[in-house]
Amino acid sequence: MQTEQLLTLAEHFGTPLFVYDGDMVIERYNDLRRFIDHPRLELQYALKANFNMALLNELKDAGCGIDAVSPGEVEYALHLGFSPDKIIYTANNMTDGEFEKVFQTGVIMNIGELSRLRKAGAAHPGMSVCLRFNPDVTDGDSAKTMTGGDLTKFGILLEDIDQVLAIVREYKMKVVGLHEHTGSGIQKPESFHAAMKALMSVATCKNFPDLEFLDFGGGFKVPYRPDEASIDYVTLGAGIAERFKAFEKEYGRELRIKFEPGKFMVAQCGTLLTRVNTLKRNRKRLIAGTDSGFPQLIRPVLYDAYHQIFNLTNPDGKEEIYDICGNICETGDRFAEQRPMPEIREGDLLGIANAGAYCYSMGGIYNLRAMPAEVVVKGGKVISFRRRDTDRDLIDNITRTTETCDMVL
Ligand SMILES: Cc1ncc(COP(=O)(O)O)c(C=O)c1O
Repeated sequence: MQTEQLLTLAEHFGTPLFVYDGDMVIERYNDLRRFIDHPRLELQYALKANFNMALLNELKDAGCGIDAVSPGEVEYALHLGFSPDKIIYTANNMTDGEFEKVFQTGVIMNIGELSRLRKAGAAHPGMSVCLRFNPDVTDGDSAKTMTGGDLTKFGILLEDIDQVLAIVREYKMKVVGLHEHTGSGIQKPESFHAAMKALMSVATCKNFPDLEFLDFGGGFKVPYRPDEASIDYVTLGAGIAERFKAFEKEYGRELRIKFEPGKFMVAQCGTLLTRVNTLKRNRKRLIAGTDSGFPQLIRPVLYDAYHQIFNLTNPDGKEEIYDICGNICETGDRFAEQRPMPEIREGDLLGIANAGAYCYSMGGIYNLRAMPAEVVVKGGKVISFRRRDTDRDLIDNITRTTETCDMVL
């Protein structure tokens, strides 16, 4: 988005402010459909990446489905008008109550634990189910976002396939889908192929008469650093489509191929606008203090993630090195440490890039600071505004949900 537009939005709506480019999200959706050229491709956007309502409505209108990871996400997607057959529920460690709630909606369950599979079969013999396997491929942009391999809690181990089949047989369950998700921000294209191979080998080595689709999760990375290369998605997409078509031939029938992209669809569409209100020299360190903080964009603190930061109001200033900090009472509350930036002055507006995925959605109100407002821009117009809670809203929410209690233990 152009700097002038961001300056206008900050002026009008105040800061901190999340700005999303709605056109870009749809472009990303269409790009991925073009790259993975398969007639039965289905994209189910990973709602956890960003639950902004206007963006979701745009995706729904474009024909996209949803990957939901909690009953709340399922209910929200249904509320927005996504039909149950466009949603997959990929939870881990779900409770019986959560399982039952989602089962009643008709949304397909993606189950990644033997114990849950058994409980599901016992509760609803004959139910249709998708099975989540651990592809035994380790990749992602941080150890905390790798979901395959030995160290994660996700999916059923490939070597447990006979136990899976025994449960499925016992409860006459219909296995309509097989699933894997390797990680978020997969670095090597080979990892996609290795994980696909692993899941396809499950499909071919055993008999799944009801199989309708294979779901290869998300993980399409986008560059965060200025010098970071992007994956060649044209080549990767063509390779994926080719591999799947070859698999279908070997398998002897047509199947649907699903992906659940989150980051790829929304990361680059978002910018967090934050204003610098305090400059401070702390011996060797120059600190720029902003009106946002890590609960509003936690990736640098949680994953050591790098986000490019632009000084939108002094782009040509003389370069200095800054710690760019938030307004939260925590030492680790930094968006960037020792970052070369054009001179920052009090009052300057900073734009934190790639703030569309896993930023607002991972946010919280630590220190009782409300999450920023959000705007969605499309075709040069603001099409949606979600206001920031006031301090009074935060207090009202606490008082509304707190009751005195006289339970004796
Ligand atoms: C099951 C599942 N599918 C899809 C995704 C989306 O991943 P990404 O945003 O990297 O595309 C995730 C996130 O890690 C996930 O856990």
